[in-house]
Amino acid sequence: MILEPYKKTILVTGSNGLLGQKLIHLLRHRNDITLIACSKGENRISETSGYIYETLDITSEDNTQMVISKYLPHTIIHTAAMTNVDACEINQKECYEVNVKGTENLIKSAETIKEHTPHFIHLSTDFIFDGKSGPYKEEDIPNPLSWYANTKLQSEKIVMQSKLQWAIARTIIVFGMAEKISRTNIVLWAIENLKNKKELNIVNDQYRTPTLAEDLADACIRIADKNAGGVFHISGKDFMSIYEMVVRISNYFNYDATLVKPISSEGLNQPAKRPPITGFHIQKAIDCLGFKPHSFEEALELVANQIK
Ligand SMILES: NC(=O)c1ccc[n+]([C@@H]2O[C@H](COP(=O)([O-])OP(=O)(O)OC[C@H]3O[C@@H](n4cnc5c(N)ncnc54)[C@H](OP(=O)(O)O)[C@@H]3O)[C@@H](O)[C@H]2O)c1
Repeated sequence: MILEPYKKTILVTGSNGLLGQKLIHLLRHRNDITLIACSKGENRISETSGYIYETLDITSEDNTQMVISKYLPHTIIHTAAMTNVDACEINQKECYEVNVKGTENLIKSAETIKEHTPHFIHLSTDFIFDGKSGPYKEEDIPNPLSWYANTKLQSEKIVMQSKLQWAIARTIIVFGMAEKISRTNIVLWAIENLKNKKELNIVNDQYRTPTLAEDLADACIRIADKNAGGVFHISGKDFMSIYEMVVRISNYFNYDATLVKPISSEGLNQPAKRPPITGFHIQKAIDCLGFKPHSFEEALELVANQIK
């Protein structure tokens, strides 16, 4: 592919991840943009037309500077992160390098672009809140409980203090189908286990508004197209406990819901603390972006059609 200087260039980090793959699929057919997909490993998207793939380790200052100055992106959608919350709690240095230093490297490199001021769209999480008073609005005060959440909040602050045009899209439990993803998600995991008639212990004291990956990708593209700035809460509209979520998955796919057993968070004994009640108010995204998320069951229908 030849770079066309009159087109807007969008660079997506973490393109091998769940959100990254959805973004590439939604953007690669557009004639009005040049699309650069970047991830740490080799490209795992089998469809390779409509974009340029570039290996990028955001923890390397040199690698980041090289890629950014090669493509001079107008928009950077930064999805890459170390996202396994318990692994982040255990490997804190690695988590800091990817989530904080990686974001800093991208911003520093983007700030050296003289031709224009890039629009930096950063992905963040409901976990920056302590879960004592969800659902949360954009202006609510963060109080992270885990190291992952801490690094995501630190990276938000770096974004807000940058000289770039910036937007932060916070999201919650993202689910969907993608190719060879390094980490499963609650819907695929529940389907796989329930199909094999495995009993599942699921927390009934954590509440969320889970997010279809396609809806999140759509919101990020709306932010990019509108050059929108500020913080946006992007999630599904249905508020439920994680236990209810898995029961609804089981019911939708006609599995035996009695296999889903409620358990308290304490009973799970995970390395990283989770906020009990999050969920988002998404009115700002609806009003400013025209964001229209699917209901949870509509989202399950979409996933079901992709699994077929
Ligand atoms: N998933 C959720 O439930 C959730 C909830 C709240 C917020 N978020 C946020 O939403 C964003 C996207 O999440 P996701 O679920 O799509 O994540 P994901 O599936 O775990 O993908 C993250 C991607 O980041 C890439 N990456 C990791 N280390 C890197 C490095 N050093 N350099 C470059 N790329 C690197 C990985 O690339 P390779 O595969 O090539 O190694 C991976 O594909 C993240 O910022 C996350 O914090 C997610």
